[in-house]
Amino acid sequence: MFRHLLVHASELPELAEGQVVPSWLSPEEKDIVASLTFPQRRHKWLLGRMAAKRLLTEMGWGADLTILNDEAGVPYAMKAGERLPVSFSLSHRGDWGLAVAAVRADVAVGADLETVEAREPALVRQFFSEEEARRVEAAGDARNAAVARIWSAKEAVLKVLGIGLRHDTRDIVVGEETAVPAGVRGEWRGLEARLAPTLVERIAPQRMALVFRDLGAHVITVALLIG
Ligand SMILES: CC(C)(COP(=O)(O)OP(=O)(O)OC[C@H]1O[C@@H](n2cnc3c(N)ncnc32)[C@H](O)[C@@H]1OP(=O)(O)O)[C@@H](O)C(=O)NCCC(=O)NCCS
Repeated sequence: MFRHLLVHASELPELAEGQVVPSWLSPEEKDIVASLTFPQRRHKWLLGRMAAKRLLTEMGWGADLTILNDEAGVPYAMKAGERLPVSFSLSHRGDWGLAVAAVRADVAVGADLETVEAREPALVRQFFSEEEARRVEAAGDARNAAVARIWSAKEAVLKVLGIGLRHDTRDIVVGEETAVPAGVRGEWRGLEARLAPTLVERIAPQRMALVFRDLGAHVITVALLIG
């Protein structure tokens, strides 16, 4: 149903060498990266581009791609002046860049990579529902992993919907582990997601499914809009 690719900064010698404008960018991308003045933002942006280009090329969408963002921030790919009909999503954390792309035309994806680490309790208080906060408390020693998974799942859903964190994150309630949707292969695990009625209306008649992968220090979550 989808494929993913994680890229580490060490695979991008240009980053280590401090090259601001790597040669593998298209002219349009070179203009964009030159306008990113903060090194950290540039670093993340390049990791995302590298992951997306490699993944889409491996999937048969060809080389010489340009990865752009629409007004909402949603990434899309251009090739020879045409927008490619493929849904994909990007995320970057530290030295890692993640790209996830749908392999079916009736599937859209939103993906997020999160670090498992101690977080301010205010994150849970402000952005989690009461049910999610209870689940985090019940997780005991696995608290950090529970917070990362829920937070990552919310971001993945907001991305597949094309809306960002400006939306109320409590409109998405991340529940228990559930069955993996048919067609998802590999080490993915299913996660229940309940949406507020306004969001359900927004996606109808499609349905939402969530899967995640525990990588120890990180968690990857993919939200799928199917149908
Ligand atoms: C979208 C958002 C949830 C991303 O979360 P994050 O933890 O900060 O960052 P991540 O690394 O996981 O993801 C960033 C990527 O998400 C994608 N993205 C950004 N906005 C998006 C949206 N509305 N829908 C889907 N994907 C989006 C982009 O590809 C971005 O990477 P890029 O700018 O290098 O292309 C968060 O940044 C957000 O909500 N921001 C507020 C909305 C906003 O400012 N949008 C930007 C308008 S230009």
